[in-house]
Amino acid sequence: VRTIDLIQAKRDGKHLGDDAIRFVIDAYTRGEVPDYQMSALLMAVYFQGMAPEELTAWTRAMLHSGTVLSWPEVERTCVDKHSTGGVGDKISLPLAPAVVACGGAVPMVSGRGLGHTGGTLDKLESIPGFRVRLSLEETRRVMRELGCVLIGQTDEIAPADRKLYALRDATSTVESIPLIASSIMSKKLAEGVSGLVLDVKTGSGAFMRTRERAQELAATLVGIGNGMGTRTVAWITRMDRPLGRLVGNALEVVESIATLRGEGPEDITALTEVLGAEMLVLAGVAADVEDGRARIAASLRDGSALDVFRRMVAAQGGDPRSVDDTTLLPTARDKVVFASTRAGWVEAIDTAELGRAGMVLGAGRATAEDAIDPAVGLEVLATTGDRVEVGDPLVVLHVNDRRNLDWATRLLEGAYRIGQAQPAHVDLFLERVS
Ligand code: URA
Repeated sequence: VRTIDLIQAKRDGKHLGDDAIRFVIDAYTRGEVPDYQMSALLMAVYFQGMAPEELTAWTRAMLHSGTVLSWPEVERTCVDKHSTGGVGDKISLPLAPAVVACGGAVPMVSGRGLGHTGGTLDKLESIPGFRVRLSLEETRRVMRELGCVLIGQTDEIAPADRKLYALRDATSTVESIPLIASSIMSKKLAEGVSGLVLDVKTGSGAFMRTRERAQELAATLVGIGNGMGTRTVAWITRMDRPLGRLVGNALEVVESIATLRGEGPEDITALTEVLGAEMLVLAGVAADVEDGRARIAASLRDGSALDVFRRMVAAQGGDPRSVDDTTLLPTARDKVVFASTRAGWVEAIDTAELGRAGMVLGAGRATAEDAIDPAVGLEVLATTGDRVEVGDPLVVLHVNDRRNLDWATRLLEGAYRIGQAQPAHVDLFLERVS
């Protein structure tokens, strides 16, 4: 097989065979196909797309470029969730312990925040001592003892994705649905789970701004998962306002713990219940989603999910006292109020802009190398649909370094649209794709 022939075939809209795809992904991962040829192939895929069979072969080749985990020592069925990300999306923190409290097992490999979106690993690391880098041996021990682990991607998991993602970033080929879908699924399927629930976000704070793009991505992800023998379900949910009221790493841990105590915001609790119900059905624990939802809700009320979270924090080196006394988590020095200069309804929030306001305070990173400050972030007091008067606080900024405060404030000014039209109530859940 010659790489140039594959580039030409794809450029001209032809389908690539399984062997050709396996060859090019393997050879690229080993460094035997140069970046310039892979860039050309990625751009051809960007314009021509991939047929379902090609996409399955492409994802399988990426998955098998590294270690595929399996859990023979765990008696329960392993399931997981992946969200395409957004602002204030801390669902993994209450969700994984709740599913485990109900009888499932969750070996979750998560990512870090980039740009306006947050990442589960950064949030967990705001807990003093918490380690997201465990050896394979430690990971297995925690899974065996607890049925739940939350770790970062290792060098062994889907190395083809690591190389391809960096190349896509540099060649403007990130925004391709087949390339996004194969990237996500190669990492998630490497966890060796039997069932996967996807939360595909749409709206002003999401990767997929329009409902149509979100539908296409959801259908593609579900097609890959089911095509490769992992039962996969997706929910398309709104990311047109921040999830919950707290944005920022330690702040989101605080809100996650509130949710685990049954005292979380309505949207965070509802998402935890709905996604958790799907996971319990996939794990064979719940008879149907209604039963699953009731079980997850009970685990948040009776303290059993919180207990799993506390034990997971301890098992991964974190201070379990911070779960019961959240004043032990990092807190920012100053709180600065951002108030409304207009009276009216919050008609819309540009959620990506709001996320960027948190990022410039230090809660997120503009490039993968940036350091973050676990303590800083935003407390969102007014969200879409709320009535506000002149001088009402919209957001409280939790600040350590005041140098970017003006910048953050300007981003918030641009993020809030306040007008005279009361927006209609909208449902967080748009549709289920299976
Ligand atoms: N997340 C991923 O893991 N990969 C992509 O390509 C885009 C988002």
